Amino acid sequence: MTKHPLMEDIAHVLITERQILSRIDAMADEIAADYRDKDLVLVGILKGAVVFFAELYKSLRMPAAIDFMAISSYGAATHSTGTVRVLKDLDISVEGKHVLIVEDIVDSGLTLQYLKTNMLARSVASVRVATLLDKPERRKVDIQPDYCGFTIPNEFVVGYGLDYNERYRNLREVCVLKPEIYTR
Ligand code: PRP
Repeated sequence: MTKHPLMEDIAHVLITERQILSRIDAMADEIAADYRDKDLVLVGILKGAVVFFAELYKSLRMPAAIDFMAISSYGAATHSTGTVRVLKDLDISVEGKHVLIVEDIVDSGLTLQYLKTNMLARSVASVRVATLLDKPERRKVDIQPDYCGFTIPNEFVVGYGLDYNERYRNLREVCVLKPEIYTR
């Protein structure tokens, strides 16, 4: 296989594709066991979650509906409040359903805090969160994912859906970016 040209900007691979796929398979089994016979909707948060979302959904051996939300990343002013703007809302009603929010990463936790409140306001049966990555060192609010692929150190990671300036999302691994890329 030819080397991905974007790999030139990568300091090192943090989590390999093999490790990711194996962990997602185990997460899917755990989720399927927990939601057996329940009306489940996976809600993917655009755009970072799309790669993880697709793999998790393919690995889930149970029926589940899917939908997506896009929210604006907050500026400095709103950072402390966690206020975000909904750019794309759900298409389907989730009232009375069990919602599993699917994220690529939980960082400060502000996005998740907003999303959980937003879902609960729709009279859902339950709301939980599955994230591929968790960076607990960066947390600003007391919120934890219910299903987590990997807990990672406070490093600038890209790949497997995660971007820097909209690049690197299509790398198959979770990678640490060379500092000169984001400091120049
Ligand atoms: C990322 C990620 C989460 C959020 C996590 O999204 O997908 O939604 O940030 O950060 P937090 O815990 O500090 O709130 P981003 O705004 O980078 O958009 P993207 O998914 O489109 O890349």
